[in-house]
Amino acid sequence: MSENQAIEEFYTENRTFPPRETFTSNALLTDPQIYNEASEDYESFWAKQARELLTWHKDFTNTLEWNLPYAKWFSDGELNISYNCLDRHIENGKGSKVAYHWEGEPGDTKTITYQELLDEVSKFSNVLKEFGLKRNDTVAIYMPMIIELPIAMLACARIGVAHSVIFGGFSPDAIIDRCEDAEAKMIITADAGYRRGEPSALKVNVDTALENGAQSVETVVVVNRCDLDINMNSGRDFWWHDVMKDAIPICHPEPMPAEQLLYLLYTSGTTAKPKGIMHTSAGYLTQVAFTHKYVFDLKPDTDVYWCAADIGWVTGHSYIVYGPLANCTTSVMYEGTPDTPRESLRNGPERSEWSKDRLWDIIERYKVTQLYTAPTAIRTFMKWGSDELSNHDLSSLRVLGTVGEPINPEAWMWYHEHVGRSNTPIVDTWWQTETGGHMITPIPGITTTKPGSACFTIPGVFAEVVDDDGNKVEQGGGYLTITHPWPSMLRGIWRDPDRYLETYWSTYEGKYFAGDGAKIDEDGYLWLLGRVDDVMNVSGHRISTAEVESALVDHPAVAEAAVVGATDETTGQSIIGYVILRGSSEESDDLRNEIREHVATKLGPIARPKAVFLVPDLPKTRSGKIMRRLLRDVAEGRNLGDTTTLADQSVVAAIQEGAQHSDEN
Ligand code: PRX
Repeated sequence: MSENQAIEEFYTENRTFPPRETFTSNALLTDPQIYNEASEDYESFWAKQARELLTWHKDFTNTLEWNLPYAKWFSDGELNISYNCLDRHIENGKGSKVAYHWEGEPGDTKTITYQELLDEVSKFSNVLKEFGLKRNDTVAIYMPMIIELPIAMLACARIGVAHSVIFGGFSPDAIIDRCEDAEAKMIITADAGYRRGEPSALKVNVDTALENGAQSVETVVVVNRCDLDINMNSGRDFWWHDVMKDAIPICHPEPMPAEQLLYLLYTSGTTAKPKGIMHTSAGYLTQVAFTHKYVFDLKPDTDVYWCAADIGWVTGHSYIVYGPLANCTTSVMYEGTPDTPRESLRNGPERSEWSKDRLWDIIERYKVTQLYTAPTAIRTFMKWGSDELSNHDLSSLRVLGTVGEPINPEAWMWYHEHVGRSNTPIVDTWWQTETGGHMITPIPGITTTKPGSACFTIPGVFAEVVDDDGNKVEQGGGYLTITHPWPSMLRGIWRDPDRYLETYWSTYEGKYFAGDGAKIDEDGYLWLLGRVDDVMNVSGHRISTAEVESALVDHPAVAEAAVVGATDETTGQSIIGYVILRGSSEESDDLRNEIREHVATKLGPIARPKAVFLVPDLPKTRSGKIMRRLLRDVAEGRNLGDTTTLADQSVVAAIQEGAQHSDEN
């Protein structure tokens, strides 16, 4: 380990998992030559994908115009996103194919075919037009995970209206910020959606938002999901079922320029104001269709694919809606949480306790072939124990995916052994709201995986790990940069070009800086180390929170862990770990020390946490990211130094209270 590495790495993983013959014998991609082909001429490579995977109204002659930091892909071509997701499949005789098997949290189900989806989308496009919406307008969508959500998105795309989906867990303030910034003319919402057995209200948050701002919003369309008695503001609010009743199910899919704005999706940055990430049409759809097909080895005629994310995040945009539909996939879509009141299970026994096997139940019933979920969910399932899976037949699963944060090797191994029955490839996909689609991930028929590594950039995407001065790191830790434009890249921050330049393009000249630390190992594998603001500096050594967390959860007594660097007079920062124990482990000072030593053994003494607090829960955002800032506040306050007293309901209560508060911001 050299003295001047940007981020030092301590962990070495020796386990490798080559693709199995049983998988490669029938996989879409098995020849690594595709990487060479893409490297030799990445523009031609993407042009070929764009023509193979999409149907164009007008072919393009310009593949890429690159005026750093602005890219235009396929700019003189024309297509319609909703035509590519719907009409063309029906023209190919797939009208009766299921687009979504939808399951509500209370156990109600709905199946919608491509033809039915097209009819509903066309009707809603006509409704949008009736309300005066036209190309380049924006609408906000604030909905639960119900079928009307993709219908609304596709209806916008069909007529060139940009959507801005606001995650259903956000507060009225978030609705105001986003609607004002996007100048949304309409909000599409529902009375509520089911979460953990209860209706979780939405429309009332829209009412509060509109009383306090978001003046651009003229119309609110409301789906009746939970039969709540809600306020309907005459002249402004309309029921979805009323406006759809007489709508005509035919709407011409207007050809759009390749760079037509498809959507805005707001994401948090280092300042309080969220950034409106802009995604456009053809390049975005090319990369999400390409990655959805090849990273998940998607066989549309036989697979039942399930991305268990929320459409409110980019994962749902790209891998529940646009990618799967472009590839004519049959998907599962689920409304609720993985733990639900037992009565809501259709075939579950009448017991008042909560079921923790909802996911496995769904996989078994629909014979799901691909499951795509987050490491935080996997660690939760680990905590619940593998017994929850044992009564379910998961043998339909062929590919497992993860996304959203670094997956620690132990969670990877648990996923592999218990969900994948030790014979299902795992694709750990690194990407961001800004990148639009997968960037670094294994390809299951080609890549030999290592637990915890996202492995390599996809064909046609180029990354470099660099040091503080922007020099390329051949092996070791540093900062992740992307060196060439890619089709689904963000086209900017809505109405804030300076911030776009400053945030992504000013740190390393000519390169996109992703904000993540990464290391590259001796075999060229990439290991994501978390956001660089999650990097600790202990006695001048920069250590990734992800590596220490990974070492903590490697201890058999530890179910979940979060780590922060707290200010320390002597060492600059010291490492503080927050740990949730597995059900059977007893709290004790000895155990705390043993856990600290375990980290020291795995990573070296420099990484030994100064303190380990045992907590019943960790504060997380609704998307499952640990709220480190909050933990840092706690660590730097009254608890630091007192490593024994945190059993500490008061601190935990404070963490949770604070978590809730900042979640709302
Ligand atoms: O830090 C990386 C982490 O999530 C960030 C992007 O978050 P967001 O824009 O909300 O998008 C999440 C879904 C794509 C990244 O900068 N991240 C995402 N996937 C991974 C990851 N970190 C490590 N490994 C991953 N597979």
